[in-house]
Formats: sequence, C-alpha cells, structure tokens
Amino acid sequence: MKSPKILLTGAGGYVGSHVLQLFLEQDMPCVVLDDLSKGHRQALPSTIPFFEANIDNEKVLDELFESFTISGVLHFAGFIEVGESVNDPLKYYNNNVVSAIPLLEKCRTFQVPWIVFSSSAAVYGEPKTAPIREDAPHSPTNPYGMTKWIFEEMLRTYETLHGVRSISLRYFNAAGAYPK
Ligand SMILES: NC(=O)c1ccc[n+]([C@@H]2O[C@H](COP(=O)([O-])OP(=O)(O)OC[C@H]3O[C@@H](n4cnc5c(N)ncnc54)[C@H](O)[C@@H]3O)[C@@H](O)[C@H]2O)c1
Repeated sequence: MKSPKILLTGAGGYVGSHVLQLFLEQDMPCVVLDDLSKGHRQALPSTIPFFEANIDNEKVLDELFESFTISGVLHFAGFIEVGESVNDPLKYYNNNVVSAIPLLEKCRTFQVPWIVFSSSAAVYGEPKTAPIREDAPHSPTNPYGMTKWIFEEMLRTYETLHGVRSISLRYFNAAGAYPK
C-alpha cells in the first residue's frame, strides 16, 4: 500500500518552507514539488521526497501521484511580485493560472480530498474598510491579484463539479523567520 502524504507545492519558498518545518516537527508525512525558480534547495531537508519540476509537468505529476497517495495539497507555488505582474501580466497568468491546471486535474483524477490555496489579500484591491471582512468585494488592482482570484474561482468549480474541497487563505505580507 502506498503511504499517504501531503503535497506541498512551492515549499522551497518563504511561506512554504516555514509550513514544511512545522509539518516535519509534527511528523506529518510530506512530499514537495517546486521548480526552484524562486525557491531554495537548502530549505528542503533531504529526508523528504522532492520533485524538482514545474507544477504543469505532466510526467513528473504522474510519477508523484502514482508513487504516493496524496491526502491533501497545500498549494504555495506561484509568482508573487505585484510590480512585475503589472509589467509582464502574461507571465503571471501563465504561471499562476495556466500552469496550475495540470495540478488541479491531477487532484481530480487521483481524488485528492482537499486543497489549501495560498491566495492573497490582493484579491480585495483597495478595500473601503479596515479590517477587511472576508466577504468584502473583490476588486484586484493588478494582474497578480487577478490571478489569485481566478484560481480561487477555478477551485470553487472543482469543488462543485468534482468534489475536490478547497479553502483559499487571503493573507497579506507574511513576515518573520523560523528561529533555526
Ligand atoms: N509572502 C507573502 O507575504 C504572501 C502573502 C500572500 C500570499 N502569498 C502567496 O503565498 C505563496 C508563497 O509565497 P512566498 O512568499 O513563499 O513566495 P516565494 O517566491 O518565496 O515561494 C514561491 C515558491 O514557488 C515556486 N514556484 C513558483 N512557480 C512555480 C511553478 N510554476 N512550479 C513549481 N514551483 C513554482 C518557487 O520556486 C518558490 O519556491 C504564493 O502563492 C504567494 O502568492 C504570499
């Protein structure tokens, strides 16, 4: 029987590598997928299975999903620079939306029960009130925020049509560092 593991995409990056540390402290079995376009190999302990590839790489996705029973996905992989997204919007639509479709499809095919998506407060644009309520209107003011909103909507569709449950965390400027 294949061992169940939680898949962390983008765990070579800032937020994902911190979550990975916390998971390892709790002995949560994990596997990581990251193309290291922005992440760091040294953030990934050699004890965990690591697939160095883009989240749209069908061959690697097949190998990963066939090797392990994926019991859930924490999806951190994505480009995150607002200014760059304004200068080069297609780079962001491609990486944050288009590239994520093969990953989503694999979740459907392999009946992954849930996905936690690293969305962003950028989906709200310029909020009219603070603190921002969860149900405040969506009005992204840049392509980065738009890619997050689009992917949230795609996740809602996959939940409704295919039963892949999801939650989108709209956090804002994560800060701090793991003591180690
Ligand atoms: N840092 C924040 O304050 C913040 C706030 C809100 C939301 N987020 C979201 O959280 C996630 C992680 O942010 P971060 O600050 O850790 O960014 P980061 O750039 O440090 O990490 C992103 C990781 O994803 C990988 N990656 C990017 N595109 C990929 C792809 N197509 N295939 C495989 N790997 C890919 C990179 O190599 C990197 O390791 C992002 O989705 C970001 O939008 C971050």
